Amino acid sequence: MKLCFATQNINKLKEIQALLPAGIDLITPQEFGCTDELPETSHTLEGNSKQKAEFIYKNYKVDCFADDTGLEILALKGAPGVSSAIYSGTRKAEDNMALVLKNLNGEVMRNARFRTVITLYLNGKSETFEGVLEGSILHDKRGESGFGYDPIFVPHGQTKTLAEMSLAEKSQISHRANAFAKLKNYLEALS
Ligand code: IMP
Repeated sequence: MKLCFATQNINKLKEIQALLPAGIDLITPQEFGCTDELPETSHTLEGNSKQKAEFIYKNYKVDCFADDTGLEILALKGAPGVSSAIYSGTRKAEDNMALVLKNLNGEVMRNARFRTVITLYLNGKSETFEGVLEGSILHDKRGESGFGYDPIFVPHGQTKTLAEMSLAEKSQISHRANAFAKLKNYLEALS
């Protein structure tokens, strides 16, 4: 079955293809002539993943899914959340982490979670899948792997930051892997 991954990030495609059942052939919007900027103007992760998937489904009549991820910090009332990619006003992970650490300066309650939401549009019906990774924010960065906020996030029950883990270790527990496992189970149950 062909299924579109509604994303502008082509680099994600291989990673996500590996997380889905073998019978699923992932295609990009570009492959059926969609070069439009996908809408992403909602104030929630749910809203953004729905907007992107719905845009492709309604305009191109192609079954598809989209994802959206954010870091939600309790003491910052859920920020950076849906704005995680551009929290500091730049897209630079270093700037975004620096602002998180600054805003948490003196704060002892450092609980946070990564949350991934996927919206699937298939045969005219939409379904939502969620994956969560609970943890806490350190006072300083540690580790070189991964991306985004990985160097300042330690999952509950672990001693390493996500940036000190190998990709395989991170994929065992990550919010994204968890959400995609749910999507995979759903698609497998249909076939
Ligand atoms: P996206 O929705 O997957 O593009 O993620 C939005 C933003 O959330 C990214 O630009 C990162 O700043 C942050 N983010 C998402 N997933 C992760 C992760 O696994 N580790 C660290 N940061 C992440």
